[in-house]
Amino acid sequence: MTEKRVLLIVGGGVAAYKALELTRLLRRAGVAVRPILTRAGAQFVTPLSLAALAEDKVYDDLFSLTDQAAMGHIELSRSADLIVVVPATADLMAKAAQGLADDLASTTLLATDKPVLMAPAMNVRMWTHPATQRNLATLKADGVNFVGPDEGAMACGEFGPGRLAEPETIFQAILAALSGGLGAPLAGRRVLVTAGPTAEPIDPVRVLTNRSSGKQGYAIAAALARLGAEVTLVSGPTALAVPTGVRRVDVETAQEMLAAARAALPADAAICVAAVSDWRPDEVFGIKLKKGHGGPPTLSLVENPDILAALSATGPARPRLVVGFAAETNDVEANARAKLARKGCDWIVANDVSEDWIMGGDDNAVMIVGKRGVERWPRVSKAEVAARIAQRIAQDLGAKDPK
Ligand code: C5P
Repeated sequence: MTEKRVLLIVGGGVAAYKALELTRLLRRAGVAVRPILTRAGAQFVTPLSLAALAEDKVYDDLFSLTDQAAMGHIELSRSADLIVVVPATADLMAKAAQGLADDLASTTLLATDKPVLMAPAMNVRMWTHPATQRNLATLKADGVNFVGPDEGAMACGEFGPGRLAEPETIFQAILAALSGGLGAPLAGRRVLVTAGPTAEPIDPVRVLTNRSSGKQGYAIAAALARLGAEVTLVSGPTALAVPTGVRRVDVETAQEMLAAARAALPADAAICVAAVSDWRPDEVFGIKLKKGHGGPPTLSLVENPDILAALSATGPARPRLVVGFAAETNDVEANARAKLARKGCDWIVANDVSEDWIMGGDDNAVMIVGKRGVERWPRVSKAEVAARIAQRIAQDLGAKDPK
């Protein structure tokens, strides 16, 4: 792969220092970084630190005669595969949404036809202000991609959405954006991923659900998009942001999930990671059930459709590769084999959740149970598991007879 080039615009916010860590991650991955530092950004990080980590000159002046001669704003954007704004301040977003061009950063954003990825960071009130939300909607409609912001404690002492996404997350989003181009092993492939829990209504305020953060499914969707796939993520309710380059369809119930999954066909592969509720209440009460009258209600349950089994049996519309998951507490391999046969899918990613470091932890050790045999993968991070699964899917779709 030829060297990828990122034009990194560093805006003026407390989080600007994280752009340094991001620069280090990018350089270590062999990505060229050409930095533009806004005047406000220079109040938070020094041009010298940025230049040293980027191993390039820092551009900061729209009207510099020498820079204009060697590298004007048009040339700057032309020389990049992707423009990244970290942190994207409320001011930078507002300028970009309005098409203002009064410094090098905003002029470059207006002059480019390259993909743009913004990582916003600002005070929670600034982020939730209708003006910023309007600008966000405008920028999204203009095709700008976003990563974050996260929710959490902020430097200003408040709590809420507005924190810069972690450098590692921005780094992954950049790799995803950069690998969307030619040469990506899954370019032109359509992949469906189900993730998260389902929520089955009991009455207007109560639901029957499963504990599931959706993290592994989202990581797999992100990893597939990084390999160039056109990913539809059918997701139950989660607190996670849509991974870059992924189309998310939000659903609540298993029946909605099945309908959305079917609507995403035809697909080359379907990966069912969702923790689907096996049952739903037979009857959904139209008004909130009240305490007191005649004791607690009795719920009668009916079985939900099995989405994995249904996708495995869609006849000519069946994806070439259908993958399921199995979390087991005992006899992992035998249970996974039985599940493979019962569901009719091509392989099962199984793990032993009785290991106390797996559930809720950052690592995983999985087994791939296919029709031809079993592969045991070592304990690695969940992000690494996702990357390997995506690679394995690319391999199988490239082969004549995927297993
Ligand atoms: O049957 P079990 O829930 O153990 O199987 C787990 C696998 O089946 C997962 O891949 C899960 O996403 C999928 N599944 C499904 N629809 C259901 C139940 C499970 O797609 N109703």
